[in-house]
Amino acid sequence: MTTSSMHPSVSERADDQARHGATPEFPGPALLDHEYDGIREYDNPLPRWWVLAFWASFFFSLGYVVHYHLTGHGKSVAQSYEEDLRVAREERAKQTLGEAPSEAALGTLMADPDLMRDAKALFAQRCSVCHAADGQGLIGPNLTDDHFIHGDNRLMDIYAVVSHGVPEKGMPAWDLQLQPIEVRKLVAYVGTLRGKHLTGKAPEGHPVETH
Ligand code: HEC
Repeated sequence: MTTSSMHPSVSERADDQARHGATPEFPGPALLDHEYDGIREYDNPLPRWWVLAFWASFFFSLGYVVHYHLTGHGKSVAQSYEEDLRVAREERAKQTLGEAPSEAALGTLMADPDLMRDAKALFAQRCSVCHAADGQGLIGPNLTDDHFIHGDNRLMDIYAVVSHGVPEKGMPAWDLQLQPIEVRKLVAYVGTLRGKHLTGKAPEGHPVETH
């Protein structure tokens, strides 16, 4: 807080306070004993609550930066929203678990693009080591061509091979490792890959009709 000696009443008060500090007539804050170009300064510290709020927000912001930006542990609002949506889709898909697996039930999952996006992520985690990122085949066969080793390319054929696997050939039985809803999602996802004809592993098995 500054005051200028230009103003008579202020300068009177300043002079008085300079000599005596706060007086009964002027009980305000005492003047500090320096003067620059006639400008004097009152000793007027910030209120304690303000200083505490300042330090509290300062330390909070440090924690915030570490949690959300440096360690990456904190989820952004958009990420938590996306996570909630994924859970909601999962819940909705689980309603089909009431029905026995069928072409129609698996077809319903296949028609849900968001659910298939989740399934793609699961495929990347569990299946891509052997079938490659887009299903074009690596150790396991190409899932995008028009040749299948097992079955006739119905969703229920895919369901059978994914659930029970072909252990002697290196394809695990996934009903032992995944939730039933995950198996169904992945089967539907493999359904979306059929007929994409990505360049990858050479066709194996017998030709089937793809749509
Ligand atoms: C450890 C390697 C491995 C992993 C992991 C794996 N597979 Fe396979 N998969 C194979 C092999 C090998 C075959 C071929 C089996 C055969 O020759 O009979 C196969 C076959 C298949 C087939 C049948 C293809 C056809 O031509 O009939 C489907 C469908 C399939 N896998 C889906 C999946 C899905 C979905 C996942 C992830 C949940 C998965 N696989 C994970 C190795 C793997």
